[in-house]
Amino acid sequence: MHCKSWVFSRNANAYDLVRADQPLPDALTPNAVRVHVKAISLNYRDIIAWRNLAGRQVDKRVPASDGAGEIVAVGSDVQQWKVGDRVAGCFFQTWQSGPFDLAHHKNDLGGTLDGMLQSVIDLPETGIVEIPPSLSFEQASTLPCAGLTAWYSLFTRGGLVADQTVLCIGTGGVSIFALQFATAIGARAIVLSSSDSKLERARVMGAWETINYREHPQWADEVWKLTDGHGVDHVVEVGGPGTLEQSMKCVAASGHIALIGVLTGFGAPNTSLFPLLARNVRLNGIYVGSRDKFIEMNAFIESKQIQPSIDQVFSFDDAPSAFEYLQSAKHFGKVVIALK
Ligand SMILES: NC(=O)c1ccc[n+]([C@@H]2O[C@H](COP(=O)([O-])OP(=O)(O)OC[C@H]3O[C@@H](n4cnc5c(N)ncnc54)[C@H](OP(=O)(O)O)[C@@H]3O)[C@@H](O)[C@H]2O)c1
Repeated sequence: MHCKSWVFSRNANAYDLVRADQPLPDALTPNAVRVHVKAISLNYRDIIAWRNLAGRQVDKRVPASDGAGEIVAVGSDVQQWKVGDRVAGCFFQTWQSGPFDLAHHKNDLGGTLDGMLQSVIDLPETGIVEIPPSLSFEQASTLPCAGLTAWYSLFTRGGLVADQTVLCIGTGGVSIFALQFATAIGARAIVLSSSDSKLERARVMGAWETINYREHPQWADEVWKLTDGHGVDHVVEVGGPGTLEQSMKCVAASGHIALIGVLTGFGAPNTSLFPLLARNVRLNGIYVGSRDKFIEMNAFIESKQIQPSIDQVFSFDDAPSAFEYLQSAKHFGKVVIALK
């Protein structure tokens, strides 16, 4: 068997994507499984690596944390998996459960470890989960980072319950999962976007209210009005320094901000943090989530029959176009690459 793969290759300022197909290693270690990858999904994180926005060294690394496929071989000591099982890789290969530990930083797919943008990958038996039976491989490929980050933010760290309000910033991967999860338990999602047509799509998916953040750069005022002066109970903060001020202005007393993203850059927010104190707000830093929470999320997705929102599917050979498309931010939800 041959392994098709893409890798990052260093250029003057950032990275190119180049093909690096290779023969498979023969031996599977006793506790590993071999997965035929059927679909990969991209995250903004892959753009950060590709465009070298955070100065991370990823030369010769296979990109992408997120992928799903079918087990084609199991190591001699593997008990819990068999050939034919439908699985996804875990973003952190070592984070099984409990609180985050710094050691997991060295065990992230598509960052420190080779990721899923290859046709075959060997992973530890504890580094995969079964995918929800009702999902296609393409749909399931969206879960390991984007899905789990939204889940871990809202439920594990945030304690979201029905009737609360959730602010989803933008209509990218994490935010649309947050919309779907919130709606599925009877919470009310307010969605922000730069695009009215994307806001219309969000409404069709169950958004309670929508705001165009280009038309309303002070969108916190709009959120305040929509919630009758209560504010939102949870903010899915994927914007970072450029949106945190507005998020703090519209979070409810005793509310929760899940600090997730850096869409507006890596700098410091030019704003007072005082609203956090004055409102007794919880500010949780989020880094994806653990394997046991991935399993928990998958059970929820299956029970609620949630269908991940895929914008476009690219072929494996056309993977660079998928990166370009995600970078353009024209997408709604997820961008996927499929393998035959
Ligand atoms: N900490 C973690 O564990 C973790 C996990 C996953 C992702 N992240 C981070 O979370 C962020 C989102 O990731 P993703 O993969 O979901 O991104 P994505 O799919 O690329 O989402 C991009 C969308 O975000 C919206 N956006 C961009 N700039 C914005 C701004 N200034 N204000 C409001 N919305 C804006 C736009 O939506 P519209 O087109 O609708 O305007 C854009 O289409 C990234 O920074 C990523 O690195 C962190």
